[in-house]
Amino acid sequence: MSLQGKHIILGVTGSIAAYKSAILTRLLVKKGAEVQTVITPAGKEFITPVTLSALSGRPVISEFFASSNGTWHSHVDLGLWADLMIVAPATASSIGKMANGIADNMLVTTYLSMKAPVFVAPAMDLDMYRHVSTQRNIKKLKSDGVHIIEATEGELASHLEGKGRMEEPENIVAMLEHFFATDHNLDKKKIMITAGPTYERIDPVRFIGNFSSGKMGFALAEECASRGAEVVLITGPTALSASHPNILRVNVESAMEMYDAALKNFPQMDAAILSAAVADYRPEQRSDKKIKRSDKEHYTLSLVSNPDIAASLGKLKKPGQLTIGFALETSDEERNATKKMEEKNLDFIVLNSLNDRGAGFGHDTNKVTILSRHGEKQSFPLKSKNDVAKDIIHTVFHSCLDS
Ligand code: C5P
Repeated sequence: MSLQGKHIILGVTGSIAAYKSAILTRLLVKKGAEVQTVITPAGKEFITPVTLSALSGRPVISEFFASSNGTWHSHVDLGLWADLMIVAPATASSIGKMANGIADNMLVTTYLSMKAPVFVAPAMDLDMYRHVSTQRNIKKLKSDGVHIIEATEGELASHLEGKGRMEEPENIVAMLEHFFATDHNLDKKKIMITAGPTYERIDPVRFIGNFSSGKMGFALAEECASRGAEVVLITGPTALSASHPNILRVNVESAMEMYDAALKNFPQMDAAILSAAVADYRPEQRSDKKIKRSDKEHYTLSLVSNPDIAASLGKLKKPGQLTIGFALETSDEERNATKKMEEKNLDFIVLNSLNDRGAGFGHDTNKVTILSRHGEKQSFPLKSKNDVAKDIIHTVFHSCLDS
C-alpha cells in the first residue's frame, strides 16, 4: 500500500505530542504523500514550523495572512486541494472548536472548508480526555462523519498513567493507507434499503409475520453508509440498531406501510436494495377487538395480496436508477431467480438457497450467488452477513455508479 500522490493536510495543535507530528510528516512523505501542515498558534509553542516545513518541503501555514507579504491563505483552496485532512495531535480545545464550528484560527477554518474525509487523533491528559465535555465533542465529531483515532493508554506527559496518548505515527499511517485502499465509491449516492419482516395485523394482539431478522438489510445499510452513501433504511419490526450517522431509519410495521415509504423515497434515490421479507398477504379485515375463541372446529381467515414493492419500483424506475432484489429459493434456484429478476425488472438478484446450511433467515451467515440482468453470475462461499454485504455492494456498484 502507498499514499503516492495523495494530498494530505496535517493539522497540528498545542500538545506535547506535537513532536510526533514531525515523525508523522516524515512517514507520510516517505509513502509518497504531499503534506501541507497547518498549525495553530499554540502548536507553534510545542514544535517549530521550521522543522515541519523542512520535513514536508512546504511552508507551514498558521495565520490567515502570510506576514511577509500579506498574501491570503485560502482555506477554501486547501479544502479543495486535500484528499484527506488529519489533525494530530488534537487537543481538547481544538476538538471542541471543530465540534462547534469556532473558526478563530486557520486550522479550524480549514476544517470547515474541507471537502475531503477528516481524521482526528486526540492527545491530552487522562482527566481531560475522559471529561464529559471532551467526550461529548468527540461524539459530535463522529456524528459529523469525522474519523476518530482513539487515544491509547500509557504514560502521559503529566507522568500519570492512563488513556490520552496520541496514537503512534506508524499506526496512523497504516490506518490512512487502509482507508485509501478501501472503496469509497458510493460517496453521496442515495440508497434505499428495505429490511426485516413485515407484520400483518389480524387483531390488536395477533399478526402474520415471518422469521426474518433484518440482519442482511442492516449489514447492507452499514456497508453502503461506510462507503459514503446516504442511506434510507426502511425496516419492519426488528431488535437491531443502525449505528452509522448516514443511515436514516424509517420504521414500518406492515407491507402497506413499507410500500408507501418505499414509493415516497424512491424518486430521490440512485438505487434501491429490496432485502425485506414482505408478507405476500394480509388479512382482508383487521379486527379492532381481540378475536374470541369460538366453539367452531375451523376458523377461516380471509387474506388479500399485498403489493409487490420490488415490482412496483421496477415499473417506476428511471434510467440511471438501480434496483436489487433477493430470492430465497428451494428448487430450480437459478432459473426461478432469473425469472423473478425479469418479472420485477431488477438489475441484480441475490440468490440464497434454503438448502445451504447457515444461509438465510435468522443466521449470522449467508451464502449467495449474484445474478445480473446481463447474464453475469458470481457465487460466493458461506460468509458472515457483514462480509456478504461487502461482496454484494462491491459486485453491484463496482462500475455502475462510478460513471
Ligand atoms: O417474489 P419474492 O417474494 O420471492 O421476491 C423476493 C424479492 O422481492 C425480495 O427482494 C423482496 O424484498 C421483494 N419483495 C417486495 N415486495 C413484496 C414481495 C417481495 O419488495 N411484496
